[in-house]
Amino acid sequence: MTSVNRLRPRRSCLAVPGSNPRFLEKAQGLPADQVFLDLEDACAPLVKESARHHIVDALNNGDWGNKTKVVRVNDWTTHWTYRDVITVVEGAGQNLDCIMLPKVQDAEQVKALDLLLTQIEKTVGLEVGKIGIEAQIENAKGLVNVDAIAAASPRLETIIFGPADFMASINMKSLVVGEQPPGYPADAYHYILMRILMAARANDLQAIDGPYLQIRNPDGFREVAGRAAALGFDGKWVLHPDQVGIANEVFSPSQEDYDHAELILDAYTWATSEAGGFKGSAMLGDEMIDEASRKMALVIAGKGRAAGF
Ligand code: GLV
Ligand code: MG
Repeated sequence: MTSVNRLRPRRSCLAVPGSNPRFLEKAQGLPADQVFLDLEDACAPLVKESARHHIVDALNNGDWGNKTKVVRVNDWTTHWTYRDVITVVEGAGQNLDCIMLPKVQDAEQVKALDLLLTQIEKTVGLEVGKIGIEAQIENAKGLVNVDAIAAASPRLETIIFGPADFMASINMKSLVVGEQPPGYPADAYHYILMRILMAARANDLQAIDGPYLQIRNPDGFREVAGRAAALGFDGKWVLHPDQVGIANEVFSPSQEDYDHAELILDAYTWATSEAGGFKGSAMLGDEMIDEASRKMALVIAGKGRAAGF
């Protein structure tokens, strides 16, 4: 397994309906870190078959720059999954980074996809392990099993929260995806997001927040994205071009935080060197910094460098 890359930038993950060649074309020019071409809920049952071919064509002939290219297949409880995977990976595996598996309920579902991918890679002569997996947690069973799911395959790159299906699955009293349900005075998503984040981090995976459906409410999007970013999430789905720039901004550190993080790293490197007297801690202005500060600074500096600071 060599190709799986858990460090790809995924601040903005753009949903693109696989059934719509015009959207498949337009998505190529947007500054999203990742695109996922959708065969699941954005495609009506009768167009799923043709959408597979539109997606293969768009992956092979489109100009996607250095975006991470993902296809979301249908979940294993349908009859579409195997043919989605076979058509897309046989047809365009060379130009594809990951398969996104929705509504994952247990580790076996990830393992089944892993086995199928291995067979296809061997058959068509791709490097075994080239195609990564992104797992969506979208119901109570998936969340209860998220630790095992996150450890199920070396192909896994991210765990994704799917709020729309999740809210429906637990009977949450709200119809506005991503917004707080009325009547509950705190953040109704805190437990779910933290549960997913812990499972992801314990397995060195990225954690991605799902969609915010009110695409004409940029302030609402910024607020919800900001909450996930503050917890440590790596990025969020975007459904509309207007959300892309906001996500890229919210999931990048501010210039000020980035500069501060680099200063901490420099000060710590100096303090622990011979010139600095091999010290374990140092002062940076009024702030005492040590090995734990270095780790925190590395997270911010890493995100900033990836964002091109
Ligand atoms: C995404 O798939 C969601 O259900 O929110
Ligand atoms: Mg969903």
